[in-house]
Amino acid sequence: MAVNDNKIQNNLSKQNVLLYIMPQKIQKRRLEDMKTGAKKKGIQISQNYSSSVTHVVSEFTNLEQVLRILEVKTEAEIKDQHIVKIAWFIESIKAGHPVPVEIQHKIQLIMPKIQEEEKNVEPVIPEWACQRATPFKHFNEQFTEPLEILEKYAELRDQEQDYSRALAFRRASCVLKSLPYKVTNISSLKNIKDIGGHSSRVIKEILEDGYCQEVEDIVNDPWFHKMKLFSSIFGVGPSTAKKWIEKGWNNLQDINIEDLRNDWRVIWGVAFHEELMDSVSRTEADVFAQIVREEAEKILPGVSVVLTGGFRRGKPIGHDVDLLLTHPDVGSEIGLLATLLQRLEEKELILCGNHERSSFSPEVYQRDFKLSMRGQLDHFEKWLGICKFPKTFIEGCSDILTQINVTKKSVIKGSLDDCDEPKTKFRKLSSKALSPVDVFKSKRDWKARRVDLIISPFDQHYYALVGWTGNKHFNRDLRLYSQRVLNMKLTSHGLYDLSKNVTVPASSEKEVFENLNLTFREPSDRNC
Ligand code: UTP
Ligand code: MN
Repeated sequence: MAVNDNKIQNNLSKQNVLLYIMPQKIQKRRLEDMKTGAKKKGIQISQNYSSSVTHVVSEFTNLEQVLRILEVKTEAEIKDQHIVKIAWFIESIKAGHPVPVEIQHKIQLIMPKIQEEEKNVEPVIPEWACQRATPFKHFNEQFTEPLEILEKYAELRDQEQDYSRALAFRRASCVLKSLPYKVTNISSLKNIKDIGGHSSRVIKEILEDGYCQEVEDIVNDPWFHKMKLFSSIFGVGPSTAKKWIEKGWNNLQDINIEDLRNDWRVIWGVAFHEELMDSVSRTEADVFAQIVREEAEKILPGVSVVLTGGFRRGKPIGHDVDLLLTHPDVGSEIGLLATLLQRLEEKELILCGNHERSSFSPEVYQRDFKLSMRGQLDHFEKWLGICKFPKTFIEGCSDILTQINVTKKSVIKGSLDDCDEPKTKFRKLSSKALSPVDVFKSKRDWKARRVDLIISPFDQHYYALVGWTGNKHFNRDLRLYSQRVLNMKLTSHGLYDLSKNVTVPASSEKEVFENLNLTFREPSDRNC
C-alpha cells in the first residue's frame, strides 16, 4: 500500500512539473544528455522559458544572471517558480522523480559578490550604446535620474554648447543603465569614457552626500518648471515655451488662446493638456492597436500593424500610441491611411489631427541629415493627432471591440474652425460647433490620447521599425555609429553605403542589425 501511494505521488508530481534547462554555460552534448535523462524518467521538459515552467535549472551561481537572461524584471514575477542548481536535477534523476526543492538547491541572489566584482574587475564596456544591452529596469536610477534632469535642463536652455552638454549627460546616464551592478565606488568608473568630468562630479556628490546640489537648484528653479510645463504641451517646443515665459506667462491659465490662432496642435494641446499628461496604459494601447488592426485588415487584408515606441521596448506606460503600418506588397499601402482615418472618424475615435503626405524620394537615403536634439524627421506618410479613447479602453473591458462597433450616439465634436485651414481632406471631417476648451469641459465618455499612425512601404519597413521603436538616444547612437564606423547613412527609410553608393536592404529587424555588424538587441534592451 505504502509503495503504491509513493508511486501515485511520484506520478502526480511528474505531471505537475515542467522543467526548463537554461542552455547557457552547459555544453551542448551534456544538455542533450540531461534532456534525454529527464524524458526517460517521464519528467516533462520545455524547450522555451515561459510562465508555465515550474522549475528552471541553471548552471549560473547568481540569481541575478538568471533573471537577466530570462528577461524577468523582478523576483515577484517568478514567485511560483523554482530556480534551481544542476544538483537538484541530478538528485531528481537519481530518485526517478522531481525531488522537493530545498534551500541548498536554490540559486541565490548574491549582491555582495557583484559589488566585489565592481571593485576588482575593470568592466568591459563596448564603446557604442548600440553595442550594449540597456534594459528599462537597471541598478543605477539614483544617478541616472539626476543626470537626465541635467540633460533636460541643457536641452531646454537650447543655447550654444547646450546640445553637446545634453548629449554628454545622456551618454553618462546611458552607460550607467547598462551596468549589471549598482555603482558604489567612483573609482570603478574612471575608465568609462562616456562618463565625463561633469557627470563624474555629479555621481561622486550623490555617492558622498546622497544628492547633487546643482540638480537640486535646477529642480527648484521656477524657469525650469515653466519650461517643462509649456514644452510638455502637444505642438510646443523649447523656443515657443521661451517666448511664452518672456511674455510673462507662468502657467496654463496665463496662455492667451487668441495668440495661438494659427496652430491647431497647440490649441488642442492646451485645452486637453491635463488629460494628455496622464499616461497611456499598455492595455489602452493594445485595445486601440487592435481596433486599428481590425479596421485596417478590412481595408487591406494582410496589413501589419505594430505597436512601436516605448511600449515595444517593454515600458508599461507611455505618452502616446505609436502604430507602424505596412503591407508585404509594396505600393498596396497607398491610400490605406486616408480610408482608415475615415473609418476611425465614423467610429468617433478621432478628435483632431493632421495627415501628412509622404515626402520620400530616393535621395532621402543619402541626404546628410543633421543629427539634432529633436532627432531626425522622417518622410513617411503619417497622421499625428489626438484620439478619443472610450473610458472602457482604460478599464480594459473584454467586450470593448463589440461595443465600439455599435454606432454610438454622437459625442460633441470639436471645432477646428479657429485654427489654420486644414491641409488635408481628412481634417475637414472634424468640424462642428464647440471650441476645444468647451469640448474638454463637456460631459463625455472618452479621454484624449495622443496617437501617431505611420505608413511605411514594406521595403523600408524594418528600418522604420527600428527607428520608431527607439528609443531616441539608441537611434542617435546607432546613426552616429553607422556614419563613423561603417561610413553608412542610417535613417528610418534604410541604410545607405556611402562607400559603395548602394542601399542595403533588410527583410527582418535582425537583418538590420546584421547589416550594421551589430549583435541583435531585443527592443527591451534599447532603453538607452
Ligand atoms: P516617442 O516620442 O513616442 O517616444 O517616439 P517613446 O519612446 O515612445 O516614449 P513615450 O513612452 O511615448 O513617452 C517613439 C520613437 O519614434 C521615433 C523616436 O525617436 C522614438 O524612438 N520618432 C518619433 C521618429 O523616428 N520620428 C518622429 O517623427 C517621431
Ligand atoms: Mn511613444
